[in-house]
Amino acid sequence: MTALTLSTAAASGLRADAIVIGVAKGAKGPVVAPGAEAVAKAYDGSLAGVLETLGASGAEGEVTKLPAPSGFKAPLVVAVGLGPEPGKDADGAGFDAEALRKAAGAAARALTGAKKAAFALPVEDASDVAAIGEGVLLGAYSFDTYKEAAPKTARSGNGKAPLAEAALLGAKPRDKEHKAAVERATAVAEELNRARDLINTPPNDLDPAAFAAIAQAAAKEHGIKVQVLDEKALEKGGYGGILGVGVGSASGPRLVKLSYTSSKAKKHLAFVGKGITYDSGGISLKPAGHNETMKCDMSGAAAVFAAVVAAARLGLEVNVTGWLALAENMPSGSATRPGDVLRMFSGKTVEVLNTDAEGRLVLADALWAASQEKPDAIVDVATLTGAMVLALGSRTFGIMANDDAFRSAVQEAAEEVGEPAWPMPLPEHLRKGMDSPTADIANMGERMGGGLVAGLFLREFVGEGITWAHLDIAGPAFNEGGPFGYTPKGGTGTAVRTLVRLAELTASGDLG
Ligand code: BES
Ligand code: MN
Ligand code: ZN
Repeated sequence: MTALTLSTAAASGLRADAIVIGVAKGAKGPVVAPGAEAVAKAYDGSLAGVLETLGASGAEGEVTKLPAPSGFKAPLVVAVGLGPEPGKDADGAGFDAEALRKAAGAAARALTGAKKAAFALPVEDASDVAAIGEGVLLGAYSFDTYKEAAPKTARSGNGKAPLAEAALLGAKPRDKEHKAAVERATAVAEELNRARDLINTPPNDLDPAAFAAIAQAAAKEHGIKVQVLDEKALEKGGYGGILGVGVGSASGPRLVKLSYTSSKAKKHLAFVGKGITYDSGGISLKPAGHNETMKCDMSGAAAVFAAVVAAARLGLEVNVTGWLALAENMPSGSATRPGDVLRMFSGKTVEVLNTDAEGRLVLADALWAASQEKPDAIVDVATLTGAMVLALGSRTFGIMANDDAFRSAVQEAAEEVGEPAWPMPLPEHLRKGMDSPTADIANMGERMGGGLVAGLFLREFVGEGITWAHLDIAGPAFNEGGPFGYTPKGGTGTAVRTLVRLAELTASGDLG
């Protein structure tokens, strides 16, 4: 991953491949953002005009390259759009964190192949340092593990290595808060990028056992207690949901429990992740066109895994338990049939009407397992329904909860870290659609409002009196379009930063 450094060097004297500056969209054209004064001065006041001539407007995500002024050691200036210039009358607040994060990400992506770049973006405080650092580390990400034709050192789709080093100018290397901001950004981005790697890894190389082994190794490294239930243990324990989904696959299911504990913890959070390493639909097979990206169906488990490790690396004063419900959903002679009844870990029976509604089955067992420890709150994360993608599109995840205040708190945390999320209801009248003539509940209900129906199903497996929220990340988990801001193509790592923020807020007593 890109190395982040803090530097007080003058932009002109810095040996680097490029200097990144910010451009905002002003009322009368592009405006050079604070942080780039030295660069602007070297152009004798003509920089904004030059940028305009080159077609720059300051729009978000826009990248304009121009030769550095004479006398500069770096040959190139990369001007990146920050979006609208913040109003001068508004309480002096500068660019918001997400604008900085996106711009830093877009610039880092544009600098693929470069060894070192200096970032002269506007920095007012430590939170700006954190945003720029995070944007750089997330934007520079690429997944090339399977690109054999590329040179050994190449780590990006175009055969070039990602930006090797980013020096943040304007940040103070001796400022405690600035240093802490870089450390936090590095820990979170490293774990988030690892979640992306897991999501992007093809399903023939990442089955439930392989995922569990990776979680086990990481847990060891970071002092996290880990417990892996394999098929035998799941059978012994009565985990009928996880087993019912995994029984059709040659690669058996796993339930992984990761326990991070802090001696100073006052609260306990449980995170539960859907970890379907491949979702073919099972006997209710998905048609062609709907299964090519279904390696991403373990994105919830990847997010939970990353968040628990990040919490441990940050030493947060809160106990966090992560539950990874891992299975491969495949059709075979041993697979669960539509019409089968499963006895779940909670004791409830479920009539499986559609084997493609498998996520709720593995989550039900993991939610009930998590509930047994009576945590202060449970948050599950899942690529659960196509209906949520239809409702909210491909960049926003839905939040459902059994507690309105908690749902709002989760949404605020998401907003704070720059993850688009929106509250969704759990309308009681949709519950009766899941009534089954045979079992306690069916795994499918009305088609309309399918994302909410899935949420209502999950609610039945949350222990009495436990605060719970459900994040349906089916839309934003996997980016099938081109990269934007700090979001690459493929696995995005969505929800990792929301979960880490929730853990931080819980640790500081600012949540619940
Ligand atoms: N993994 C899918 C949901 C999904 C869809 C994730 C698109 C990412 C992108 C899930 O297991 C599924 O198949 N859900 C069904 C449920 C239905 C059968 C009740 C769906 O949404 O169609
Ligand atoms: Mn499915
Ligand atoms: Zn699925």
